[in-house]
Amino acid sequence: MATVQDFDDFLTGLDSNARGVDHRDGLKWGEPAMEVRGVGATWMASMDVLHRAVAAGINLIVTHEPTFWFDGRPANPELERCRERDVDVGFKTRFLDEGGIAVIRAHDCWDRYPDYGVEARLRGVLGVPDPLEYLGGYHYFYEVAETTLGALAQDCKAKMDLPCLRVAGDLAKAVRKIVIAYGATSGTEGYYRFWRRGADAVISGEQSEWAAVRPAIDMGMGVIELGHAATEAFGMQGMADLLSEHFPNIPVRHLPTDPSFQWL
Ligand SMILES: [Fe+2]
Ligand SMILES: [Fe+2]
Repeated sequence: MATVQDFDDFLTGLDSNARGVDHRDGLKWGEPAMEVRGVGATWMASMDVLHRAVAAGINLIVTHEPTFWFDGRPANPELERCRERDVDVGFKTRFLDEGGIAVIRAHDCWDRYPDYGVEARLRGVLGVPDPLEYLGGYHYFYEVAETTLGALAQDCKAKMDLPCLRVAGDLAKAVRKIVIAYGATSGTEGYYRFWRRGADAVISGEQSEWAAVRPAIDMGMGVIELGHAATEAFGMQGMADLLSEHFPNIPVRHLPTDPSFQWL
């Protein structure tokens, strides 16, 4: 038997700093003493994910992103931020209660976690070699076999099995030095630093058109936008893999988050 507390302790042990007052990780819903029957690791605990969890007999969700929409910290938790802003997520808390589901957020411990984490698993899928340099924050600098922006974009699309992606810049541009700015880690200042370091292109997750894409175009740096969920979901399969290894008697699976968009 394992409880929610046992899983929370294990996740805390991955990076105790991720439980500090300025961090995001921890139990967001449910009782620590509850016995865990099944675990779903997911990028974001959407209502669709929660419905699938109940149908599969899962009663613990380990989510990378917020459950109650706001990016909470101990001093200002997700549900408190909802209350402050008069945002009612009662339909979601009721569903969690009725389904007897607990939710733990694993974000700050997980993006840069070796081998199983978000960056490591995405790099493995894309076949990018070990980084040349750590740039700080979430970003590493890589050198790949020379290609073009268009060919690199097509390669990412095929390897990640994406229905489509967006590219900014000259598709014929030669690319050898890249930064992977997965998730929502793209921004003006970071892009400026990537450019000054010599990056030919950025492989990115979620973009701001004005704050990241337009500056990159001005700098002459290519941008390949793959999506926030798409770039982080492989890491949540990694979370399911790691939890399975450490809790072999509890069923653990990756629950892919339902697609945010349709393309018309
Ligand atoms: Fe992340
Ligand atoms: Fe993210």
